Amino acid sequence: MKKRWWHNSVAYQVYPKSFLDTNNDGIGDLRGITEKLDYLHELGIDVLWISPFFKSPMKDNGYDISDYKEIDPIFGTMRDFDEMLEKANQLGIRILVDLVVNHTSDEHDWFEESRQSKDNPKRDWYIWKDGKQPNNWRSCFGGSVWEYDEKTDSSYFHYFHKGQPCLNWENKEVRDTIFEMINWWLDKGIGGFRVDAIEVIKKTRLDENFEVDAADGLASAYPGCRLVKGIELFLSEMAEKTFNQYDIMTIAEADIRIEDQELWTGPNGFFDMAFQFKSSKLDTELGFWHRPRTFDLLEYKEAIASEQYPLNDQTWAAVWLENHDVPRSITKYLGNDSPLEAHKMLGASYFFLRGTPFIYQGQEIGMRNIRYSSIVQYDDIASIDQYDRAIEEGYTNEQALGFVYNRSRDNTRYPMQWDNSKNYGFSKTDPWLEINTEFPEITVENALKDQSSLLYFYKDMISLRKSEEFKELFSYGTFEMILDKDPSIFAYLRIYDDKKVLVINNFTDRLVLLNLDYKVNKVLLNNIENDDININEIRPYQSLVLDVE
Ligand code: BGC
Repeated sequence: MKKRWWHNSVAYQVYPKSFLDTNNDGIGDLRGITEKLDYLHELGIDVLWISPFFKSPMKDNGYDISDYKEIDPIFGTMRDFDEMLEKANQLGIRILVDLVVNHTSDEHDWFEESRQSKDNPKRDWYIWKDGKQPNNWRSCFGGSVWEYDEKTDSSYFHYFHKGQPCLNWENKEVRDTIFEMINWWLDKGIGGFRVDAIEVIKKTRLDENFEVDAADGLASAYPGCRLVKGIELFLSEMAEKTFNQYDIMTIAEADIRIEDQELWTGPNGFFDMAFQFKSSKLDTELGFWHRPRTFDLLEYKEAIASEQYPLNDQTWAAVWLENHDVPRSITKYLGNDSPLEAHKMLGASYFFLRGTPFIYQGQEIGMRNIRYSSIVQYDDIASIDQYDRAIEEGYTNEQALGFVYNRSRDNTRYPMQWDNSKNYGFSKTDPWLEINTEFPEITVENALKDQSSLLYFYKDMISLRKSEEFKELFSYGTFEMILDKDPSIFAYLRIYDDKKVLVINNFTDRLVLLNLDYKVNKVLLNNIENDDININEIRPYQSLVLDVE
């Protein structure tokens, strides 16, 4: 496999609104990121994905862009960006920008023009149909995918919020304009892109109604938008005209089909890797938060294996536990009262999988979900929609809030907990989204003072992944799950040449006896201190990373 600079990288995601506020307006900013680059460097991070910071009316917190080449004033200026980029590059941290090109904001000039008249030159840049509701599809954040516009007696298509009209990728001018914008950012010297919602850029069956699947009388739009045949033409054109001209790293947000791994991430693939959801979406039925499902380790392992096994020496993956769209992993998989060992174990369970590991801000100190007492305290449009939907389906306010607590995107969007001062050092003024007062002891400051903290464990995991002795194995080694039918243990081997590493994780609070036959050469990591390890007696929540034969 051709070696790439990011093969041994560990990446970190920043949600800029909630990371660090340096001008005390209650909103995080680019200077805040620059200020914390040393912290990230110290942790061992060398790739930084930053969620959108472009000009935006913020209906979906920046995932609704009104100007791709401007920084939104709440985050700072282009000069702040350039300074951040320069300092990051000096530290050996490559910056990845969030590329949101399925849609723009409805306040983007292109859309303002498009809605003017049926014969406007930009009319075809978006998806318009005559009349009020050309089909019964539901948008991601609730309601119809169609928004009626009186001016021309027609409706535009929005897969996400009505403030996020979908671009028409069938239009060559649209594609060329996007490609020019991509290259404009790449020429600034960024390290690459995380590519938002790219699996839904092509639409089909727009004239069809789908079978109603909920009380709102609508049907999910996903089958008409996800990985529609022909999308590969758009993606290969994009790769050819933009990404392939630069030595960068790209990650598609896409639940690619198992058989398409090579097509998407192989040597001539559209991207370098993808963020997939097979294991993360198991907690609800069809994405309805009021239809929760209980965690089942066997099912979880199966989902992970289904993403890991198709990988070969030509393809790559991104591995992750948290991002800005999902709840906190400790709350989700272990419960808030679980012990520190369990949090370390959860980290180790994904960190040594095949692919590039991503850490989401605050994950490294064990931040948990946030409990707001009323729906009005939430900012996230998905939370508000899912709350309304639960009420519509007959649940009480308490029940609906319970669903939102488990699933809200605000769980990972409330302010980062840096230190023990006011607002955890995030801002000197009231933050845009209320802080979490339930876990005041969880701060970076406290974690740095305690060598046994989760933060130091993450640091150890990063060092191990990058160590001279094991970096080839963790980058290029094969994946093999063992004990796949064991309901308590999640264990796998990574194998490279004559080297073998075994990762064993006990997901329960009980001692688990095994019958393994490996000779342990060296203990590379153990989340339980001063423990005489026995490979066949795995302590409650124990995690072992072992050099074996
Ligand atoms: C992003 C979300 C966003 C959506 C629309 C996603 O997949 O991660 O945060 O709401 O795309 O842009």
